[in-house]
Amino acid sequence: MKRIVVLVSGQGSNLQALIDACQSDSHRIQGQICAVFSNKADAYGLERARNAGIAARSLNPADFADRDAFDAALANEIDSFQPDLVVLAGYMRILSPAFVQHFAGKLLNIHPSLLPKYPGLHTHRQAIANGDSEHGTSVHFVTEELDGGPVILQAKVPIFPQDEEEDVTERVQVQEHNIYPLVVGWFVEGRLAMRDNAAWLDGQRLPEQGYAAD
Ligand code: GAR
Repeated sequence: MKRIVVLVSGQGSNLQALIDACQSDSHRIQGQICAVFSNKADAYGLERARNAGIAARSLNPADFADRDAFDAALANEIDSFQPDLVVLAGYMRILSPAFVQHFAGKLLNIHPSLLPKYPGLHTHRQAIANGDSEHGTSVHFVTEELDGGPVILQAKVPIFPQDEEEDVTERVQVQEHNIYPLVVGWFVEGRLAMRDNAAWLDGQRLPEQGYAAD
């Protein structure tokens, strides 16, 4: 059984979707989440992990001299669980280059936009402000470029004229809870890899917009 470590900073609804996909009778993910880490002690995601019987730990950035020291300690803790895959699920801290290199090829993130559009924060707000009629979410391999690694799979949602930010957030999250378990499942089945700064599925190099692109 492949071993998965998940990093969260907040609600952990994506973590919950992954837990459910690992634990459901259908075993949509043939893997085991062996630990959840957070940079926030009060992240609700940690509670979700504990409720599922998964080791839940937090590290406080204020206890470390700088980002490199924090990330080195975190990498060390993660390594003690010997994961095959590290999944960022609403982990809201910039990663040091050393951390990214350490887990290169086995580090996934979900970002709430149709990358390369809207890297960074407040993606839903920006999409609405720009009058976009379409928005979405992307699962990608993590590289040193912020929200810039190869895209694996995207899901699109419409934006309607009367939408508030929370309407769009909710619509995007419904899609996230479908596509993240799907992609994690591909990875643990050995179907997915990062090579030559591209994502490969079943030996095929995926296009820039990921699998579902036309
Ligand atoms: C998700 O929508 C995820 O795409 C986003 O944070 C949310 C976390 O929700 N991630 C980022 O913005 C990363 N740049 P959750 O804690 O309920 O899974």
